[in-house]
Amino acid sequence: MHHEASLIATVAMGFMLAFAFAFLANRLRLPPLIGYLVAGIAVGPFTPGFVANTALAGQLAEMGVILLMFGVGLHFSAADLFAVRWIAVPGAIIQIVLTTALAGALAVSWGWSAGAALVFGLSLSVASTVVLLRTLDDRNALDSPNGRIAVGWLIVEDLAMVVALVLLPIFAEMLGGRPDPHSPVGGNTAVLITLSITFLKVAAFIALAVVLGPKIVPWLLKQVARTGSRELFTLSVLAVALGIAYGSAELFGVSFALGAFFAGVVLSESDFSHRAAADSLPMQDAFAILFFVSVGMLLDLSIIVREPVAILAVLLMILLGKSLIAFSIVLLLGYTVMTALTVSASLAQIGEFSFILAGLGKMTGLLSNDGLSLIVAGALLSIALNPICFMVVDLIVSRAGIGTRIGGYGEQRLARLQAQLDVLRERGAARETERSLRVQNLVDLFPIFAQLDHQAPEELLLLFRPRTASPGDRIIRKGDRPGAVYFISEGAVQVAIPNHEIRLGPGEFFGEMALLGGERRSADVVAIDFCKFLTLERRDFLSFVNRRPQLRAQFDEMAAQRAAEHPLSGSETSR
Ligand code: CMP
Repeated sequence: MHHEASLIATVAMGFMLAFAFAFLANRLRLPPLIGYLVAGIAVGPFTPGFVANTALAGQLAEMGVILLMFGVGLHFSAADLFAVRWIAVPGAIIQIVLTTALAGALAVSWGWSAGAALVFGLSLSVASTVVLLRTLDDRNALDSPNGRIAVGWLIVEDLAMVVALVLLPIFAEMLGGRPDPHSPVGGNTAVLITLSITFLKVAAFIALAVVLGPKIVPWLLKQVARTGSRELFTLSVLAVALGIAYGSAELFGVSFALGAFFAGVVLSESDFSHRAAADSLPMQDAFAILFFVSVGMLLDLSIIVREPVAILAVLLMILLGKSLIAFSIVLLLGYTVMTALTVSASLAQIGEFSFILAGLGKMTGLLSNDGLSLIVAGALLSIALNPICFMVVDLIVSRAGIGTRIGGYGEQRLARLQAQLDVLRERGAARETERSLRVQNLVDLFPIFAQLDHQAPEELLLLFRPRTASPGDRIIRKGDRPGAVYFISEGAVQVAIPNHEIRLGPGEFFGEMALLGGERRSADVVAIDFCKFLTLERRDFLSFVNRRPQLRAQFDEMAAQRAAEHPLSGSETSR
């Protein structure tokens, strides 16, 4: 097969080889990531045999980046970033400046132009959040203070890169590249105008995401969750993630990645963030694999033969240069050696943003083909070597006993951070417990719901509307059209049927007969105490019970029993 492999062939071969190589990698006790990258090289245009469609693979990879950034946003909590701000913000910014300068100097020494050197330097300065999250997750270190610092650091880097992506086309001409096709006139004034417009757009987008997003998105998801359809919920999560990412790119010219990140952040504030995360995870995983495969595809193996020294230099810059810079910054900021080591290992790789930057650099005429290949080779090798970097950290720690040394200024800071993170974690856990308690209460209080699947009480909590009544209030009038069903959580009511004294109390319900039978209300119902009810609207009640035949049968049976007590029903039995 040749260049124009179809989408299905590209995806199928990508997944099959990724699986085969990842399985092999697992056998060899290597991370599966390496398997994905090798699969990419195998289906890439630079190796013989099957060649996947590079353009399609690139787009699939972009989907991966969107979903992954969405996931980062979903797990991102502003409070967490706030807790690590004193190290993550200055650390990441200083590190980007120093690494860009160092790597840029290397490029200039090779005779590259200033523009090319800048793109190259920036590309090497930013590490991959995707790779880091995977590594930390594998090591169970995502929630540790050092893990949080590393993630916070990389998020600041990502945000800085988004700014760089926005600015690069504007300054491309000044740096010796092609002029920005979107700019109407050339020259300095044009740069200023484009710059202001771009910043206004980004500001407008962030304002919208921060102000409108948290109102609209959770509301929408709540409506979807109320339908009880799992499929629809997953779909809504995807639609929100991709919709915001695409919409923001189209409307505001903000990158897909930033849009997706904000979509995740918006969702993370809602009650459904856990479900959204769980539902989008398989998609994230699948597309992340395609992302790594497509990285592998970009690698022109011949560069290893043509430019072995340059590749080695790039690799050393990523593994050692960047790590040493980060290591020193962390120590200078007053943190522990352990923190410095974790951050260094986390930064000793480059990934998605480097490709995006390098791609843009090529498009704007700043970076050459070989420059791009060097960055890709550096990324591939550094990603593959990253687990080893963490192993080295482990080794240093166990040999030098760093982790066991307590005391000192840095340790205190870390302990304080740990305490802060614990508080945040507890708050999250408390919210979860409260939720599960509410579910438990519901099941305990209303025996009719005891047998339901575990998702049902959650759905009920969404559907219920609270109502109250005072003694003497007529809640239901005989002969009215039915509105809602009432579940009594506190108080008592009286059902007015001639010759019968029917009192209903907590745990019981009323108002179901007319709804189930499609009739008018069969009796007056009056509060005889201060009451609290949980009510289900007609449509919600019917859709809920109709999807659960057993429950529907229980309600029908109860309604039939109750109807039998009415004077006109003939077969009267006493309660
Ligand atoms: P509905 O007919 O919708 O409105 C009046 C409600 O009173 C009715 O539903 C039942 O929920 C309740 N009800 C009527 N008859 C009885 C009964 N015999 N025992 C308990 N509740 C009743």
